[in-house]
Amino acid sequence: MYRSIQLATSSKPLQVHFAFAGEKPPKGARGAAALDAARSTPGFQAEVGECVPAGARDLVVGLGSRREFALSTLRKASSRLAKVLHRRGVIGISVHAPVGLDARHFEARVLGQAFAEALMIAAWRVDFFDGTASKRSASLKKLSISSPDAGFAKGMAVGVKVATAVNAARRMGATPPNVCTPAWMERQARKLGLGLRVRSISYAQAQRLGMGGLVNVGRGSAAKPQMIIVEYKPRTVARSCRKEHLILVGKTITFDTGGYSLKVNNGMLGMKYDKSGGTNVLGAMQAIAAMKLPMRVTAVLPAAENMVSDDSYRPDDIITMHNGVTVEVTNTDAEGRLVLADALSYACEKLKPTAIIDMATLTGGVVVALGHFSAGMFCESDGLRRRVEDASTTTGEKVWRLPLWKEHRDNMRSQHADILNSAANRGAHPIQGAAFLSYFVDPLVPWCHLDIAGVAAVDSANDQFVRGPTGFGVRTIVELVRQWSHA
Ligand code: BES
Ligand code: MN
Ligand code: ZN
Repeated sequence: MYRSIQLATSSKPLQVHFAFAGEKPPKGARGAAALDAARSTPGFQAEVGECVPAGARDLVVGLGSRREFALSTLRKASSRLAKVLHRRGVIGISVHAPVGLDARHFEARVLGQAFAEALMIAAWRVDFFDGTASKRSASLKKLSISSPDAGFAKGMAVGVKVATAVNAARRMGATPPNVCTPAWMERQARKLGLGLRVRSISYAQAQRLGMGGLVNVGRGSAAKPQMIIVEYKPRTVARSCRKEHLILVGKTITFDTGGYSLKVNNGMLGMKYDKSGGTNVLGAMQAIAAMKLPMRVTAVLPAAENMVSDDSYRPDDIITMHNGVTVEVTNTDAEGRLVLADALSYACEKLKPTAIIDMATLTGGVVVALGHFSAGMFCESDGLRRRVEDASTTTGEKVWRLPLWKEHRDNMRSQHADILNSAANRGAHPIQGAAFLSYFVDPLVPWCHLDIAGVAAVDSANDQFVRGPTGFGVRTIVELVRQWSHA
């Protein structure tokens, strides 16, 4: 695909226009000639993402019926357009914002952002591990995108920043576990720059701090665990979030064998994506810093590899966590909640959060419940939940609420320790995970847990994504921070 996509004007760019199905462009309107030409192309229906050339300098992209238009329509059209542009060898486009949409619902800025994000996400490929047996696409081109509409162009500039971060998260996600270790993740965080402050709690320090979850899960691997902390402190903070300190926690299991509760046959394949919570939180930090959003945000990434060795933790072990809660390990494959627990407890004790959002590929059960269509959301704070839902509605990254009741918390109690890491009954696994985590969060701090096991990666290509990691949650978290800080 394209080597890169950037916001720049190129000489003689291809003019891109949007058309709604069954509409005649008003006489003399900009691009009317191209739209007329497209409409007279046999077969062209202006269906969503249908692209047709109008002469040598113009391309018309269908948006379907105007009545049904939504941001997701534009994203889909943009994703399809990326493939068409690549196939035609286009290196520069000038995009004319869709006309006649209600500006209250569809500001040009919002449209431009969605367009650029979808274009860059659809154009991304995993080719950085291609070796000598692969045909090198020697002529990887750059694509320059611009717009004559100021608002749309502004939005595209934001979209480019966000999508760059989404794709950076996907690149980390696709990086295999023999390369991507906890230490490698730390290096990625440090490489971000952007004024972000990165520090790390080493394995030895984690032992001293009593982080029994992180230490025990990561102990069996030669690549020892660590807790990576990334701080973003903007010079100016918006009035709407003057006292806020948002903490993002991301499960960063660089590979999950299941440990001694080993995963069956091919259940292990793809478990490099078990770090997606961490990669996507890091992606969000990258975008937040690049956009200079006026809100204080800190990321905590408990990074470990869940391996089998003579030093690994076992089922039946009883371990003491950072906050003193004891855990009877009933399943070493329920490792994510153990590393997250220490991160949540550490954040609550040391970082003075006013809100916490964690993202984790926590349970196969959430895929059974919700499929690959949405993340599972657990949030008992109405205010924070509203923020997550509002942001998610804008980005199209779906979340769906599941309950977290006292009954679920009680279900995690153990006879031999405070709690179990996995209850004997097989029911409600995603909720068990959330219930477990709740023992490590200060009850006074609004908290949202997102189980992204079903949405972190796709098995086969679709309009938006090639096979591989999606960067789910980067855009939603960035949008949440943008809305919260009124930026
Ligand atoms: N990383 C897995 C969850 C997962 C499964 C993510 C499939 C993506 C796709 C997690 O650590 C795990 O193994 N969960 C167990 C929990 C159980 C042992 C309580 C599961 O879901 O089966
Ligand atoms: Mn596991
Ligand atoms: Zn896992």
